[in-house]
Amino acid sequence: VKHLAVGDEVFGFVFSGGFAEEVVVPSNTCFLKSKKMNFPIAASFMVAYGTSYHALKDRAKLAKGETLLVLGASGGVGLAAVELGKLMGAKVIAAASTEEKLQLCREYGADQTINYSKEDLKSEIKKLTDNKGADVIYDPVGGEYTEAAFRGIAWEGRLLVVGFASGTIPKMPLNLPLLKTASIVGVFWGDFAMRNPKLNMENTRTLMKWYDEGRVKPHIHKTYELKETPRALEEIMNRKVRGKLVIEV
Ligand SMILES: NC(=O)c1ccc[n+]([C@@H]2O[C@H](COP(=O)([O-])OP(=O)(O)OC[C@H]3O[C@@H](n4cnc5c(N)ncnc54)[C@H](OP(=O)(O)O)[C@@H]3O)[C@@H](O)[C@H]2O)c1
Repeated sequence: VKHLAVGDEVFGFVFSGGFAEEVVVPSNTCFLKSKKMNFPIAASFMVAYGTSYHALKDRAKLAKGETLLVLGASGGVGLAAVELGKLMGAKVIAAASTEEKLQLCREYGADQTINYSKEDLKSEIKKLTDNKGADVIYDPVGGEYTEAAFRGIAWEGRLLVVGFASGTIPKMPLNLPLLKTASIVGVFWGDFAMRNPKLNMENTRTLMKWYDEGRVKPHIHKTYELKETPRALEEIMNRKVRGKLVIEV
């Protein structure tokens, strides 16, 4: 391990086994914590911001002036995508299931919002983009929302497949990408971090710099003790959380 020294304050990433007092972390996914960042923020920062930055920059190649639609926009990775999308110069449309969640997305820079529990995704996307559609769709939710959103994608648009929080992996009729010459782009930040540690480290440094400069402000909904972990997971499963929950050991 060359990038860290004994005594450094660090944070790390593991695929599983994180709800513990001690854990062994591969050096590739262990990072120097900024002095300005406290441990609860450090613990929740990279999964949300690392994923969303990699997705928008390396996978979608989001350009200034493009329209970015974020599904599950008030969630852990979603809210980071809203904030980073704005920082990267996109027009951001946030989609979520309640007005309270959409309000937080506006506070994080969303230009426009869609309540997908009440409004039809495809027609709202068309309405908000003068019929052009969204250039990039960030999808950590899956289920019925994916196809509805994809029907509102722009010519040469990119759908980022990030996750399936709804519990359903969607299937897609392949005439849809043909009709828009659009791309369906997979995102797997954890594996990317292991396969391309150099680029991941560069991304991490950029994100840390933005944090230090106050340009990104991670939202922690609530902090739980280790013994309360099942309650914290229930809150997430019941769609009660905005931003991140943190387990403090
Ligand atoms: N590919 C990668 O590299 C990568 C990295 C990190 C995370 N992920 C995945 O991305 C997904 C989202 O992660 P996250 O940390 O952002 O989760 P999260 O904070 O729980 O956010 C997920 C969002 O999904 C929406 N949702 C819709 N139906 C849901 C349901 N039945 N149950 C729970 N949520 C539902 C909720 O928003 P509304 O209520 O507004 O719909 C919620 O805010 C997960 O599947 C995770 O595994 C992937």
